[in-house]
Amino acid sequence: MAKVEAGHTFLAKLGKKRLRPGGITATRWLIGQAGLSQDTQVLEVACNMCTTSIELAKQYHCRITAVDMDAKALEKGKKNIAKHQLQEYIHVVQANAMKLPFENETFDVVVNEAMLTMLGDAAKQKAISEYYRVLKPGGVLLTHDIMLTPGTPEDLVDTLRGIIRVNVSPLSLENWKHLFSSIGFSKVTVSHGAMSLMNPAGMIRDEGLWGTMGIVKNGLKKDNRGMFKRMYQFFNRSGKSLNYIAVSSRK
Ligand SMILES: C[S@@+](CC[C@H](N)C(=O)[O-])C[C@H]1O[C@@H](n2cnc3c(N)ncnc32)[C@H](O)[C@@H]1O
Repeated sequence: MAKVEAGHTFLAKLGKKRLRPGGITATRWLIGQAGLSQDTQVLEVACNMCTTSIELAKQYHCRITAVDMDAKALEKGKKNIAKHQLQEYIHVVQANAMKLPFENETFDVVVNEAMLTMLGDAAKQKAISEYYRVLKPGGVLLTHDIMLTPGTPEDLVDTLRGIIRVNVSPLSLENWKHLFSSIGFSKVTVSHGAMSLMNPAGMIRDEGLWGTMGIVKNGLKKDNRGMFKRMYQFFNRSGKSLNYIAVSSRK
């Protein structure tokens, strides 16, 4: 029987390093909200292959705990960290966002990109409550997700679920904002725009020209072509309805 592979695992297999809706544009906006320095204690949840953690460690020399549930992605992350000689800065832990193995008030900043969208309502609340718990007072939560724009066709989310093989539940702008404030976060600030995950300009921005060419070449191989074309067409056609949203909130 053919293996059922989630969209982000498929894209990572093709060579994509940024597996998030607004790509590097949204990530840079988020990082700009946090005022990072070498003294900042950062937790990245859903780090996958540690792309963002590596960028933060290189730029700010801050200490980062990088968490994901996916053991294979973390193995790749550890290799990437070693390749950049950043073992001193990034500590990798396999853990579930729903039950983080950290004391209350441990971190100054929590980064969580492209994960909350995958969860149902109760699980979203549970994960964000965990982020609230492990943040120090005044700490900053940075999240990056898919946002529904007004007038999104009802069946579009079902189509997305089928294409990326994940039971995603994106929210509207107001519902995302409400979610963070309902858990106790304040200063909820957002940036949003067209999804760039699979559009040509976004891919070149995120992965570089050679990186993009490699991903497309792998995507067009016989075994990958069907899924690659479905994802590419869906994300390029639904760009007006599905946006990215980056949210910064303070404890
Ligand atoms: C779409 S990928 C995003 C990866 C990375 N943050 C990025 O933006 O490139 C989603 C990641 O969330 C992780 N994930 C999903 N549910 C999780 C949970 N409950 N706890 C920890 N990680 C989770 C998956 O294993 C996967 O690596």
